[in-house]
Amino acid sequence: MRRPIIAGNWKMNKTVEDALDVAIGLKRKFYTFGEADIVICPPFTALSKVGDEISDSSIMLGAQDVYWEEEGAFTGEVSPKMLKDVRARYVIIGHSERRVLFGETDEAVNKKVKVVLRYGMIPIMCIGERLEERDNGTTYEVLEKQLTRGLKDIPKEDVGRIIIAYEPVWAIGTGRTATPREAQEAHKFIRDFIEKHFEKEASVKLRIQYGGSVKPDNIAKLMAEEDIDGALVGGASLDVNTFVQIVENSIL
Ligand code: 13P
Repeated sequence: MRRPIIAGNWKMNKTVEDALDVAIGLKRKFYTFGEADIVICPPFTALSKVGDEISDSSIMLGAQDVYWEEEGAFTGEVSPKMLKDVRARYVIIGHSERRVLFGETDEAVNKKVKVVLRYGMIPIMCIGERLEERDNGTTYEVLEKQLTRGLKDIPKEDVGRIIIAYEPVWAIGTGRTATPREAQEAHKFIRDFIEKHFEKEASVKLRIQYGGSVKPDNIAKLMAEEDIDGALVGGASLDVNTFVQIVENSIL
C-alpha cells in the first residue's frame, strides 16, 4: 500500500507573515498525523521561516523549483544546497507554469531531478498535456516524451523515490478537473511506463499525484482510484480550512 501524499503548491502567493499564518494553522491541525504525508511548498522567500515553524510537526517542507548547480554565478537561482539548508524535503520540478511561461525544457527537468536526488531530497516531477494535445489525441505521446526525457539515466533503484505529479494543463486553475477515470487512465499509463522502462518494484513503489483544480469535494473520488496516490493542490491549498478538508477527505 502506497502512503498518500498531499502537497500544497502555493505558487507566487503569500508574504512571509501570511505564509506563517497558514503554516501555524495547519500545524495546529496536523501537529501529529500518521495517515498521509503532508507537504507545503511556500515561495522561496518564506521557506526558511515556514521550515522553522513546522520543523517539530508532521508537516514537511517543499520548494517550487531549484537550479542544478551547487553555487556560483547564476543570478536569481536557488541551489539544492540552499534548499537542504532550510530543511526542504521535497522539490517541485517541471511544473507546467515553468515549462510554458519560462521555457523550461525536459532536459532541464532531468538535470534538476538528478540533483535533487543527489542531495537526498524528493523530486515531485510534473508532467501533463495541454488542451490541444488532449483534443488532438496526443496525450499519451506527450506524457511518454516527458517521462522518457525527464527520467533519462536515472538509476532503477532511485526511480521509486521520485514522485510524479500528473497535472493536465487544461485542469490547472480552471475549475475543470479531470474526471477520476481520465486521471486514473493517465496514472496507469505512467505506472506502466515505469514498469516497462525501469522495473516492477519501482513502479509499485512510485507515488503518483494528481493536480488540477483539486478541491475538498472532488478529492475523495480521485483518491478512490487505484493508481492515484495523492494530490498536488494549487489554489485550494492557500486557505487553511480548505486544505485541511482536502487532507481529511483524501483518507476517507
Ligand atoms: P490548481 O489546484 O489551482 O488548479 O493548481 C494545480 C497546480 O498547478 C498544482 O501544482
